[in-house]
Amino acid sequence: MGCPGAGKGTQSAKLQDKFHLKHISTGDVLRAEIASGSALGQEIAGIINKGNLVPDELMISILENIVKSTDKGIIFDGFPRTVAQAEALDAMMKRLGREITEVVMIDLPESEVVSRITSRRQCRKCGEILHVTPGTPANKCPVCGGELYTRPDDTAERVKHRLEVYHTETLPVKSYYQNSGKYVEIKGNQTPEKVFEDIVSVLKKVK
Ligand code: AP5
Ligand code: MG
Repeated sequence: MGCPGAGKGTQSAKLQDKFHLKHISTGDVLRAEIASGSALGQEIAGIINKGNLVPDELMISILENIVKSTDKGIIFDGFPRTVAQAEALDAMMKRLGREITEVVMIDLPESEVVSRITSRRQCRKCGEILHVTPGTPANKCPVCGGELYTRPDDTAERVKHRLEVYHTETLPVKSYYQNSGKYVEIKGNQTPEKVFEDIVSVLKKVK
């Protein structure tokens, strides 16, 4: 969990590599649907490009199919994002004989969100997330050479709206998990390496 720009994608990629997990970013799943050009993708684009959440039922049905397709441990990135999604996730995990082991909140001061997100580029080919410095040419991925792009919901105006949505819809999920004994908070305004180290030290006991 974490607000827009907290570092969920950056840390999930590292965790996937270290613990051989399957990383499921619901944002990436939705963006892939948009890229496929389907009618559903067009409908989704109209919602997420404005910075709003797609309906819970749609999100849950898309997700259940992906969860069923793997026996690996899973890291959910950007899900659950509403209390209804958290309840549906519990029910799904029970049905599938699985368990949520840890809920990690990356806590980032909101003053840092806009500058982080407006400096982000992502690779269309391999999904690498990059931070670009103003004035530096950035159109090729340093990992695979793929094309870098800016997400349509990454303008300063949309980010402010996404933060409002985060406050009203997603922060209540924190209370949902806080007394579960599985909830931990990590400081997000540290280097990516230090954030990773902190998360790994929390996860050690469930590894
Ligand atoms: P989603 O794609 O999940 O976007 P988000 O939650 O707004 O989060 P971001 O991906 O913007 O940030 P991040 O935390 O992954 O940060 P990152 O690692 O990239 O969702 C997009 C949309 O899809 C939603 O608005 C909604 O419409 C829809 N959606 C998704 N899930 C949904 C759901 N469950 N239900 C309904 N709708 C859903 O890092 C950001 C930048 O900071 C990068 O440039 C990175 O290089 C840099 N950075 C990272 N860590 C550090 C660090 N420690 N120090 C300095 N810079 C750093
Ligand atoms: Mg992300």
